[in-house]
Amino acid sequence: MTSKEIKELISKMTLEEKASLCSGKDVWRTKAIERLGIPSVMVSDGPHGLRKQSEGGDHLGMLDSIEAVCFPAGCAIASSFSREVAQLLGETLGNECQAENISTILGPAMNIKRSPLCGRNFEYLSEDPLVSTEMAAAYVNAVQSKNVGTSPKHFLANNQEYRRMTSDSIVDERTLREIYLASFEGMVKNSKPWTIMNSYNKLNGTYLCENEAMLTGVLRDDWGFDGFVVTDWGAMNDRVKSLQAGCELEMPGGNTTNDLEIVDAVKAGHLDEAVLDQAVERLLNIVYRFEDNRDKEATYTLDQDHEVARQLAEESIVLLKNEASLLPLKTSQKVAYIGKYADKPRFQGGGSSHINSHKVESALSVAGENVSYAPGFDDSTEDVNQDLHAQAVKLAAESDVAVLFVGLPDSFESEGYDRKHLQMPANQVALIEAVAAVQENLVVVLHNGSAIEMPWIDKVKSVLEVYLGGQAVGGATANVLYGKVNPSGRLAETFPLRLQDTPAYLTFGGEKNQSIYSEGVFVGYRYYNSKEMSVIFPFGHGLSYTSFAYSNMTIDKEKLSDAETLKVSVDVTNTGSLAGKEVVQLYVSPENSKLIRPVKELRAFDKVSLEPGETKTVTFELDKRAFAYWETTIHDWYVEDLDYEIGFGRSAVDTIVNAKVHVSPALPLPKVFTLNSTMGEIMADPKGKAILEQSMGAMMGNSEAAKVAEAGPDDMMNAEMFAAMMEGMPLRQLLSFVPGVEKASLQQLIDALNS
Ligand code: BGC
Repeated sequence: MTSKEIKELISKMTLEEKASLCSGKDVWRTKAIERLGIPSVMVSDGPHGLRKQSEGGDHLGMLDSIEAVCFPAGCAIASSFSREVAQLLGETLGNECQAENISTILGPAMNIKRSPLCGRNFEYLSEDPLVSTEMAAAYVNAVQSKNVGTSPKHFLANNQEYRRMTSDSIVDERTLREIYLASFEGMVKNSKPWTIMNSYNKLNGTYLCENEAMLTGVLRDDWGFDGFVVTDWGAMNDRVKSLQAGCELEMPGGNTTNDLEIVDAVKAGHLDEAVLDQAVERLLNIVYRFEDNRDKEATYTLDQDHEVARQLAEESIVLLKNEASLLPLKTSQKVAYIGKYADKPRFQGGGSSHINSHKVESALSVAGENVSYAPGFDDSTEDVNQDLHAQAVKLAAESDVAVLFVGLPDSFESEGYDRKHLQMPANQVALIEAVAAVQENLVVVLHNGSAIEMPWIDKVKSVLEVYLGGQAVGGATANVLYGKVNPSGRLAETFPLRLQDTPAYLTFGGEKNQSIYSEGVFVGYRYYNSKEMSVIFPFGHGLSYTSFAYSNMTIDKEKLSDAETLKVSVDVTNTGSLAGKEVVQLYVSPENSKLIRPVKELRAFDKVSLEPGETKTVTFELDKRAFAYWETTIHDWYVEDLDYEIGFGRSAVDTIVNAKVHVSPALPLPKVFTLNSTMGEIMADPKGKAILEQSMGAMMGNSEAAKVAEAGPDDMMNAEMFAAMMEGMPLRQLLSFVPGVEKASLQQLIDALNS
């Protein structure tokens, strides 16, 4: 349907009909208007599988949904650092949606992992906005390539579960832009999502559903978003305000109270009917984008998509540690699989993303004949089950290698509540330690949605992070353990040594319904690096069964203005004897910044596949944003006139090769001097310096102060102190300290400075 036809349709609607379209028909469907032939369309959770509920529905993942494929959760997908992985997931889901007549899948979930405590981190992608936005963009583009919509969520600053429905996130402008908005920005600009889901919480005092600055100012005006905004399920506050702010659809539907409020507001003249018309137009644009492009032939089989789930998991698994090349295992070795998750893997999280998996593939179900098994622990309790424990330790001692399948139970992390600590259950920790005492060849396989503490790390040789890897995680894990797949995942979040080290430790969760993001832009590695803190495993870390070398780094300019772009290349060689994939990570560090900035930030990444001995040249083109920070005086991105180090690293903490470049802003920052500008600020400006020196002479004349200044600082105090005092002295203080200076002459000086 053309936009003209949609407008004509709207002109035929009654006020009540238009208002009715602004909320759903039920939990999952939009309303139809039969008289005008307007169809109802269905949406479904998301993000890593279909939770289509044929009968009734709920937003907590408790009632039944159709049998479906559970793909790896966001924590795993992001660890692939592969846009192709996100794309394959998106295309597969898009196709399933077409076959199931789902117009929009509610995902990706892309809130920044502000703290590892957030109960929903398993669904989210990263602590880094570039990884988050790039992976999400690939997913959104891929789903939408199948003519199915997405609903990236939860916009915005919804980084905790505690009181998520009412809590007020207090975030300063620069932090919002550089971290929390940046996580959505690239995705919105590059993949034009059909819809965006606003979060439950408030941001700086205003509920997101009615936050015009975000929904219209940022999303539409700054970034060009042209779809519709839907509330998270139950996130509507004031219906009329939210419509004016740019929130078109209220979900779930079923209660018409708010529709009537819209009608009343228009009748009473409180709401311009044109606002309602525009909302309906935005809604119908998307409804018809789906309806007009139905792929009625689309089919899928659960078994085929299960294979996709395994492939995605294989690319996402992160090899964290591998001493003495214990991995890959050999089929000739006598291997003990220990731990419940070898048989019943924890492969997804709880809440609205919960999938009714048609089957689950465990590592045990695909194990070879040299593998034996002991469950080791009961994950419904933290108490050691003495029988299971003793049996597991005995089996480990009798084997060549023990592989412990451990992690966090469902009760430790979920949508709806946050974690209280970063520890694993005590009985699982006890098992790791007991097995380590009898078996030095110990591999730990972790099933968890976010970072954990590992006090046992020095006692084990190898660690595989498989996250919540979807229903095929067992097969994928076995393929990595035995070397059929060379691991290539990298951590998209830091694993800190302990909870107390995390940047939001003192404030996470907030108080009095407010969460103050006082750590500012120092989230994740931006914090640990800037404080030079040790962590267990840094952001970007991940090992391989082969090795890679970096050489021939080149930059195409040594100096540039921020209006230009910089090409950075590096050669990456597979120096080992197995084919493998390397994640090339480019970090930028400002040198001698005058601002409070992270010491380094990831500005580009790519995953390359290399045969043994093969070399590939990886080239990135960096633009202004790679060097910029958000300047609050101009409400825009700005580049400091500085040298910047550009480094390639295997993680956020190391640099393999680097180069230096000088970047200057194309335009100076507009300056406004006032009576409160300091002498230092004025002297730092070339024009200011000239004017100040000249006027000071004239104003001071032959006064006593002039004689003192002339004599130099030695008479009064040491030179350093004098300079520091002058540097910080506001102009107005000349009135107090220099006899004869008048306010009028200071005003003339300011006028000259600002002219
Ligand atoms: C969740 C959303 C989800 C919605 C519908 C909400 O509770 O926050 O992510 O899409 O329910 O199930």
